[in-house]
Amino acid sequence: MKLWGGRFTKETNQLVHNFNASISFDQKFYKQDILGSIAHVTMLEKQHILTTDEKEKIIAGLKGILEDIESGGLEITAEHEDIHSFVEANLIDRIGEPGKKLHTGRSRNDQVALDMKLYTRDEIVELNDLLKELLSVIHNIMKENTASFMPGFTHLQKAQPVTLAHHFGAYFEMFRRDRSRLRDIYDRMNYCPLGSGALAGTTYPLDRDYTAKILNFDGPTLNSMDSVSDRDYLIELLSALSTIMMHLSRFCEEIILWNSNEYQFVDIDDSYSTGSSIMPQKKNPDIAELVRGKTGRVYGALISILTTMKGIPLAYNKDMQEDKELVFDAIDTVKGCISLFTGMIDTMKFNKETMEASAKNGFTNATDAADYLVNHGVAFRDAHGIIGQLVLTCIDKNISLDELPLAEYKKISPVFDEDIYEAISMKTCVEKRNTIGAPGEQAMAQVLSINEKYLMES
Ligand code: ARG
Repeated sequence: MKLWGGRFTKETNQLVHNFNASISFDQKFYKQDILGSIAHVTMLEKQHILTTDEKEKIIAGLKGILEDIESGGLEITAEHEDIHSFVEANLIDRIGEPGKKLHTGRSRNDQVALDMKLYTRDEIVELNDLLKELLSVIHNIMKENTASFMPGFTHLQKAQPVTLAHHFGAYFEMFRRDRSRLRDIYDRMNYCPLGSGALAGTTYPLDRDYTAKILNFDGPTLNSMDSVSDRDYLIELLSALSTIMMHLSRFCEEIILWNSNEYQFVDIDDSYSTGSSIMPQKKNPDIAELVRGKTGRVYGALISILTTMKGIPLAYNKDMQEDKELVFDAIDTVKGCISLFTGMIDTMKFNKETMEASAKNGFTNATDAADYLVNHGVAFRDAHGIIGQLVLTCIDKNISLDELPLAEYKKISPVFDEDIYEAISMKTCVEKRNTIGAPGEQAMAQVLSINEKYLMES
């Protein structure tokens, strides 16, 4: 059934129907469409636009449709243009005349704007929960690894020693910001467009505050033309999702490196790895690579919707139907990626000795060795030069600064004494860094308790 056949004298060309139809994808929000309609008729009855009997029949019919779709008893079929037409046609089949009043004071333009907002809101809640699970796993790994030393890198060159807890803590911050971005989007988008009609409101005495309230919005939107053509919140969401993917992708890249034969910092669990069809020795980090790869797809959705929206005059235009497949795919992709990533790091083994040895052998304590000299009255620039020479000696002998005999130290500067070894141990290097945000145990304990509280309260 078409909602708009009246003024037409010819049948729609089949290809046009197929091209125009959205039912293959907008059926994803059948539930939100039905709940929106229930709220709408509840308000229509309160405003005496529908009788109580009509309202009850319509709501019973809509609930029946919802139950039948969920139990598999009712199939959403492609001859309908969209989910809105499907539900309305089905309702009229079920309850007859009162069903024809469902669409009073409403247009598909404000209806689809509502459905998409309801759907997005639900998905934001799910994304938020998935990020929380990921943060909990990161938090647990951090708690266990405040004294697991590893090299910190700049330019992918070993720089200064940090701990595994500190390294993971960086990602904790990123995913915490991602959650707060989702929260912001939720708050900003949470105004109800229903009642905006096609573009200019309606002549019926709708109570838009009431509809907004029963659908848990903070209030109605304030301009009907904007309401039916606003897709800002989807752009913001795709931007937030792109940022989540960027974070996951960076983390994946590190895990791929750490899992490589060269690093051997971690072992990805067998259950999260795949093999090669030809090389029997291989255990590949495919999951991390796929998450990294799917980032492109989510960025693509963001650019796509921005481009679609850029030249559209007010108010609703059909271009906007293009928002759905992009957003649905991006949300599903990100949800899948967060879940898989969480499982992968939760089961991953850390080769702590290898990590610590790598930090020692990479001269990550060279800055601390220079600081030792500074503490003994040498100017920093001179100290830098002295340690540089010592590093050269070590490279020559293929040893670390800890393994260099005291005599060699003294040869270059008499300031050195036996306590140099203590001063440049991984433990000391990390321990001394105790300003908030640094890897030292005290500083980390402070951050861990802030994070613990955050996880409990949000
Ligand atoms: N499927 C349409 C969309 O997603 C629903 C709104 C249709 N409105 C219209 N005036 N054709 O945007």
